[in-house]
This record gives sequence, C-alpha cells and structure tokens, in this order.
Amino acid sequence: MQFGVVTLFPDWVEQVTSVGVLQRASEAGTISVTGFNPRDHATDNHRTVDDRPFGGGPGMLMQVSTTQAALAAARQALPQAPVVYLSPQGRQLDQPLVQELARMPQLILLAGRYEGVDERLVAQQVDLEVSLGDYVLSGGELGAMVLIDAVSRMIPGVLGDQASAEQDSFANHWLDCPHYTRPVDYQGHQVPAVLRSGHHGRIEEWRLRQSIDRSWDRRPDLFERKTLSTTELSMVNEHLSTLEKASTTRDGKDDEKPDY
Ligand SMILES: C[S@@+](CC[C@H](N)C(=O)[O-])C[C@H]1O[C@@H](n2cnc3c(N)ncnc32)[C@H](O)[C@@H]1O
Repeated sequence: MQFGVVTLFPDWVEQVTSVGVLQRASEAGTISVTGFNPRDHATDNHRTVDDRPFGGGPGMLMQVSTTQAALAAARQALPQAPVVYLSPQGRQLDQPLVQELARMPQLILLAGRYEGVDERLVAQQVDLEVSLGDYVLSGGELGAMVLIDAVSRMIPGVLGDQASAEQDSFANHWLDCPHYTRPVDYQGHQVPAVLRSGHHGRIEEWRLRQSIDRSWDRRPDLFERKTLSTTELSMVNEHLSTLEKASTTRDGKDDEKPDY
C-alpha cells in the first residue's frame, strides 16, 4: 500500500516507518510513505505556505496555491488514491473505517496546519474527512501517522502473525481479552489456571468470556451495535448475574459499616 502525505513536515511523517513492524513492512516494500511538501512549491523568498483568513480573526490558513500544488504532485505520484483530510470535523477513525481504508491500494492524506485549509479546497479535492477524536491537535501529521499505522496492520504480510490482528480489540467487535506471560506468580497473583491447562477449547471459551465481560464493563456502547450470538448472549447473562451477586454481597457489607 502506498501512502502519500501532504504536509509541511514530511521528514517527521516519514519516520512512521522507522521502527517496528512498519519498518519491516517498508523495507519489504509492502508499504511506502512519501511526503509532499507545499513549501517545495512556494515561489517567494520566504517560501510562504500560509495566508490570512478573509473576515479577519486569529490565526492563518494553509495557502491555497502551495497546498494545491503539493496535492497535485501527490495525485500524479498516486493516481488511484482518494484524498483524506485529517480534520477534527471528520468521521471519527475506528476499526471499521481502518478496514475500509486498508482495501485501497493508495491513499493521499492531507495534514492541515494553522487554522486549517480553505473550505473550497476541501470541497473540491477531498474525498473524506477523518478525525482522531473530539479534541484539537496542532496539525494533521499525528493523525496521518496514526491512520498509517492502524491501516498498515491490516495489510497482509505487515504483521509477523496476521492472526494477532484478528484477536485485537475491535477486530471481532469486542475488546481483547487480558494476556499473561511468565512468571506464573507475580506478586502473589497467579496466571489463570485455564491458560496453563493446554485445553484449547476451554482457553478459547475463557478468552471470549473475558472479552465480553470487559466490553460490558468498559464499553457498554459496543453492545448497541451488535446482534449477539447465542453463546455471547448467555455469557452476558452470566456476567450480569455475577455482577448482581457481587453487588448484593457488597451492599450487605456496606450495611454493616457505621453510617458517618
Ligand atoms: C489547529 S487545527 C485547526 C482546527 C480547526 N480550526 C477546527 O477547529 O476545526 C490544525 C490542523 O490540525 C489537524 N487536526 C486537528 N485536530 C484534529 C483531529 N482531532 N483529528 C484529525 N486532525 C486534526 C487538521 O488537519 C487541522 O487542519
């Protein structure tokens, strides 16, 4: 997969392939990340890449001509790529969107700076706006790097063992189960016995149950968008009755406490 990033800081963005699995994928030619810098298209002595907003107010905008020229260079290099503008006003990046984007052979990411990009340029040049979340960053570079990392993990051959991506949180809708390594006893806390049993079926069942319980406790919103299988439904019901029992026991204990 080829990523092109229109950014004032291409050296920084290209560093996303300098470590770990993305480094290996880049060296193997499975992914590539190329920066396209609007500053390379500036024609004045100061190599200006910003401009004042009409209507006044604080801050500057990305200059239209240099941003447009860098986009055109990216399009020429990556002719099949849709253009994604990283923006706090876009669709929030989540695993389904990551999987959608991973089907593209090429992607151009536009990283804004200052107060952002001229609205007409967004309307005419951008296919999709993607947000990292409901907060404002100083620029779109970190967003581009997050997107590149998450999308690359979905591309066959990028991870050493593709099955690990299939077990990750959100891959099968739910949060991932807890994981343990040696030692068996860590400060008096034991690795769950089932994980040491060697019984594949029971381990799988335990993992699914943990995923469901965690999702219920930490991300109840995940249950709003999912039709549960019979197994999942019975696990939820069992988790609910465990929670209910725990709360009854706790309430009983609370009653014994002095009322301050
Ligand atoms: C300071 S921000 C501009 C924010 C813009 N004035 C607004 O409030 O919508 C500069 C650039 O950072 C990037 N950015 C900021 N927050 C982001 C977010 N939550 N997700 C993705 N990109 C973001 C965008 O590319 C944006 O053009």
